[in-house]
Amino acid sequence: MVTGVTERKIDKLIELLVKNATVVVPGPKIASQVGVTRFAVSKWVKRLRGLGVEIKSHAGTGYQLVKMPDILVPSLIQGELGESEIGHSIIHHFRIDSTNTAAMVLAQEGAAHGTVVVAEEQTAGRGRFGREWFSEKSSGIYLSVILRPPFSPAAAPILTLMAGVAAQHTLASLTGLNVDIRWPNDLLINGKKVAGILTEMNAELGRLHAVVLGIGINVNNSQMPAALKHIATSLRIEGQRPWSRVQISIALLKELERHYHLLLENGSAAIAERWSAASSYACGKRIRIVSAAADSDATTTGVDPSGALRVRYDDGREEALVAGEVTEVK
Ligand code: BTN
Repeated sequence: MVTGVTERKIDKLIELLVKNATVVVPGPKIASQVGVTRFAVSKWVKRLRGLGVEIKSHAGTGYQLVKMPDILVPSLIQGELGESEIGHSIIHHFRIDSTNTAAMVLAQEGAAHGTVVVAEEQTAGRGRFGREWFSEKSSGIYLSVILRPPFSPAAAPILTLMAGVAAQHTLASLTGLNVDIRWPNDLLINGKKVAGILTEMNAELGRLHAVVLGIGINVNNSQMPAALKHIATSLRIEGQRPWSRVQISIALLKELERHYHLLLENGSAAIAERWSAASSYACGKRIRIVSAAADSDATTTGVDPSGALRVRYDDGREEALVAGEVTEVK
């Protein structure tokens, strides 16, 4: 089992092998570029093989990458992000309790805006309302982004909608599948949840220090656990083919960067407008508002720039929901 932050040297070694995928890379070249001894290189190669990376040894000459599994290696992602602030620093874990918990700690310690924590597997993935987030090893994308927006804590909810729109655009354009957003932040395909967003913040007395956007996407799960099957799905189940988690992560981070700038430059109304265009829940949807006291049915009438969902109850009363859970009434 591999725990803790993935060592930068493994990341560098993978990058070197990927960039020279068709050739045999001499052992001494690897050793000098990665910054380890030749003996260490053979140890690292063994370790990578244990992680599913196929590397051929050529006696006396060097190593050649044969097959690279879909691991969310920072160097493979960062190289595609250009000048993006989101993803300029990516911290990879093979196994972690929760990327959100790790990102909240890093934010507290002063990690920069745009820092991303990503994991192959979470042992205590968290969803909204204290629910567990099913985090099967190397099947889904589990990532958390630290943002330091120049807003007050009261303005933070729009960031959840922003992440929802960015994730909806990413999944819809890469897969061609019909991806809906259920307010405030669930991504659905054919009425089942394929991704969720957990927004947490570090704030005090009207000052927002950092926001952590945690995004979980069910990508290559070939089936969902029995307890979730009726409400959750994966891109693989819906598209009937596997997808590259690396490609999806790259596209997602780019879309987050693009929408974050749209928010800063054009304001929250621009995000609310895009959210409304991407979601069947924005207007005219019959919904049930789930509450500890009693559920009530209503029809949606729009989304405010604050991120609140406007609804009209069946008795004619109108309200703007700022938080909570809704389901579709069929
Ligand atoms: C929800 O829909 O309830 C939100 C789910 C959020 C899950 C993601 S996975 C990455 C990040 N780490 C966590 O522990 N949770 C979020």
